[in-house]
Amino acid sequence: MKGTFPIERFQKVRTPFYYYDTVLLRKTLDMLRQEAQSHPNFRIHYAIKANANPKLLKIISSYGLGADCVSGGEIQRALENGFAPQSIVFAGVGKTDEEIILALDAHILCFNVESTAELEVINQLAQAKHTKARVAFRINPDVGAHTHKNITTGLAENKFGIDMSQMVDVIEHAYKMDAIEVIGLHFHIGSQILEMTDFEALCNRINELQELLDLHHIHVDNINVGGGLGVSYEHPNRLPVPDFNDYFNTFTRHLKLRDGQKLHFELGRSVVAQCGSLISRVLYIKKGMFKQFCIVDAGMTDLIRPALYQAYHKIENISSDEPIETYDVVGPVCESSDVFGKAVDLNKSHRGDFLAIRSAGAYGEIMASQYNCRPLPKGYITEDFL
Ligand code: LLP
Repeated sequence: MKGTFPIERFQKVRTPFYYYDTVLLRKTLDMLRQEAQSHPNFRIHYAIKANANPKLLKIISSYGLGADCVSGGEIQRALENGFAPQSIVFAGVGKTDEEIILALDAHILCFNVESTAELEVINQLAQAKHTKARVAFRINPDVGAHTHKNITTGLAENKFGIDMSQMVDVIEHAYKMDAIEVIGLHFHIGSQILEMTDFEALCNRINELQELLDLHHIHVDNINVGGGLGVSYEHPNRLPVPDFNDYFNTFTRHLKLRDGQKLHFELGRSVVAQCGSLISRVLYIKKGMFKQFCIVDAGMTDLIRPALYQAYHKIENISSDEPIETYDVVGPVCESSDVFGKAVDLNKSHRGDFLAIRSAGAYGEIMASQYNCRPLPKGYITEDFL
């Protein structure tokens, strides 16, 4: 089973480009909204880092999601595209003074603070403005996740968050600061997580930490469990919308929230991955002794995930119905890792055919580069082709 695409309309645009199926995006957001509505204490923030294309951001913000940002640039992009300032959380281990000032001026919901050194600077900058900064402390829960080593974040060895053993001291220290209001705790264990037991382990850890806080008579109003829900890269057509129900139920079942606590999520990939495909044209078929290469006009500069994380993306020839042949699908960039897939079964391919590299809506367009002086890929949505 292949995906359906407006191929006739694709003829008119320059390849490679990203194509976003907004019907699927809206369906995904509807499911998310439905789930959220059945849990009035849930707050869902879209992780802008996954895809900051303004056309998508306008649709996502129209569903009432908040934004999770990791730079001043992302905060600006979120504000320009309809996200409410009071729905924005701002994370990152290395926030600059300029970014902190921008966030204070915008009156965002909270800073997810990753060190005491950062806390001091936020306090000073907020003091200078005679304002208060709301903060949540990012705690490193030392919980592993079954995912690629480059995208786990919650282990003690990772650079993220404050060590659990320092949590109480840091909060008590923050209570004494004039310009800081402690509103919560923040966690994030990694990305592309499909085993709900990983999130269950995070819940158990948060329960332990909350018991410790109780002993010190510390109450926080917000728990933020980060993002990380994965998608099916193998079956984008069969499983186009992630199982949000199972994901949220894991938290309602295992997390012991205190009275009045709000539960925040920062979902990126699960919102946008499946609606996006990188569309490229076949340039050449090159037959070797033992294999044939399908050389396309998209490269690792357009989608770096296969080269960087050995990520699998399903590839379909969407303009051929000829019998299947096997190809290594490669790009034109001068790097041996510029390979989208080895031994890929495709309908027999010819120069000029369109290939769709699927599930590329998250961490695709936004991670594109201009290496080899290649132009950045454009992003089109369904409405652009009507
Ligand atoms: N919150 C925090 C603190 C994060 O670090 C991330 C992702 C998210 C939320 C959103 O996670 P998601 O729901 O998208 O899994 N470029 C990599 C993924 C890097 C993820 C970084 N942090 C990739 O292409 O797989």
